[in-house]
Amino acid sequence: MRNFISVKDIGNLNDALLKAKEVKENPFANQTLGKNKTALLIFFNSSLRTRLSTQKAAMNLGMNVMVLDVNQGAWKLESEIGVIMDGDKPEHMLEAIPVMGAYCDVIGVRSFAQFESKSDDYNEVILNQFIRYSGKPVFSMEAATRHPLQSFADLITIEQFKKKDKPKVVLTWAPHPRALPQAVPNSFAEWMNATDYEFVITHPEGYELDNQFVREATVEYDKEKAYKNADFIYAKNWSAYIDPNYGKVLSTDRDWTVDSRKMKLTNNAYFMHCLPVRRNMIVSDEVIDSKQSIVIPQAANRVVSAQVVLSEILRNL
Ligand code: CP
Repeated sequence: MRNFISVKDIGNLNDALLKAKEVKENPFANQTLGKNKTALLIFFNSSLRTRLSTQKAAMNLGMNVMVLDVNQGAWKLESEIGVIMDGDKPEHMLEAIPVMGAYCDVIGVRSFAQFESKSDDYNEVILNQFIRYSGKPVFSMEAATRHPLQSFADLITIEQFKKKDKPKVVLTWAPHPRALPQAVPNSFAEWMNATDYEFVITHPEGYELDNQFVREATVEYDKEKAYKNADFIYAKNWSAYIDPNYGKVLSTDRDWTVDSRKMKLTNNAYFMHCLPVRRNMIVSDEVIDSKQSIVIPQAANRVVSAQVVLSEILRNL
């Protein structure tokens, strides 16, 4: 593996899951793999889990880790090519990225959708500049359109908890007061479509995701019908993708909050969310505090997914 941007980069999912199992059983088996190698983690946006789990994974592999919060203490970076730099951004990515590449062996990048240009977001302008100009392997720590380390951890979690070979997994939109990117649901759909699970997406009309991610998933607008016999309920808010509403909040209808009434329709489903989660908007206290909530083991598996990915990158340096 050179770069890790989407499910395609992980290769065979069963092989990846076997590697995840090995990491879970013995996280310190490859402590010399990263000796004298440095991971640089670049954050354009806030993070708790990704920041800590990726550092932990790198440390488990014996790597050195450097973290840069671009918007706190670094020069503001310009990304537009050919621009006259007479504004508030004193450094261009064309210099900053190769400089960062000179200081490390592997680069992780978190760069959310900015909702200024759908085309820039969906062409992953920032992430692709790192791939193009850093000279180093790049892995996504959530980009504009995908969050593959999260989705890989989600898959590991479903495999850990599933009680049947082909569980019914339901991705449900849930309300949130702010406009959030589509990266998590896009990516989750992409990874679920790579499995042989029964995969259903439910959301209010107007919240349709990009077809390149939805593909063969069943889209069910009737949420009660979608919940029926589900083995996993995966909740997430996202803003509208379809033009002219790209990046807009169209609804905050709390009838879509994951609650006990709807969970009773399921096959005693587990509740999942990537976190951070807004209680009593996305999910009721009762559901997230129930024994069917697996959000903490799901977050713990972020170390495992990051460690598998870093191991594969290190083996190919
Ligand atoms: N799920 C996730 O990526 O969490 P953070 O935003 O805290 O990293």
